[in-house]
Amino acid sequence: MILRFAIAAEYKDSEIGCHIIRVSDYSMAIARSLNFSPKKLKIIRFASIMHDIGKIGIPSAVLHKKDFTSKDYDRIKEHTKIGGRIFSGSLSPILKVAGEIALYHHEWYDGSGYPFGLKARKIPLYARIVAIADAFDVIVSERSYKKSETIDKAIEVIKRRKGTQFDPGIVDAFIKALPSIRETLKATHTIDDFLKENKRFLRKA
Ligand SMILES: [Fe+2]
Repeated sequence: MILRFAIAAEYKDSEIGCHIIRVSDYSMAIARSLNFSPKKLKIIRFASIMHDIGKIGIPSAVLHKKDFTSKDYDRIKEHTKIGGRIFSGSLSPILKVAGEIALYHHEWYDGSGYPFGLKARKIPLYARIVAIADAFDVIVSERSYKKSETIDKAIEVIKRRKGTQFDPGIVDAFIKALPSIRETLKATHTIDDFLKENKRFLRKA
């Protein structure tokens, strides 16, 4: 269901497809260096894919602008609450975590993020991981409003924001996971590739 949802989101924004799969790969790599159990790795693998699902509720004309006004930015911020609402009340562990990630992945460790300004460990762990994975991918990718940066520049930004935007312990796990993250960047990951690679799990599910 999550992957079908992801395909639907890709129709809204063609940038989404590869981005969400890469974010899932980086999140897994970070979670591995935090010694997550296989069960928790599976949860973050799939739940992280849905971090931006709330963007289906934001008009494409706003999402693809070159210059955002503060009003546009406020509208885009709503994707967190929309994503949280999509999964609210879910009982399955993956969907529950998907809701947490969608709602809290733009919170900052120092409390200056959105939508609630939660601080440190008040932000769910899975969302603190995806926050780094997502920010890293956005920095190295081209967007309608910005050019892509080098991997080294992105690593420098993540390190610089240790303790402000990002959880210091998870920044360390990200650094440890860099060899695997660099490998991910070399490959093209589409949702269709992902479906093929995860067929065995999907059949079981
Ligand atoms: Fe987001």
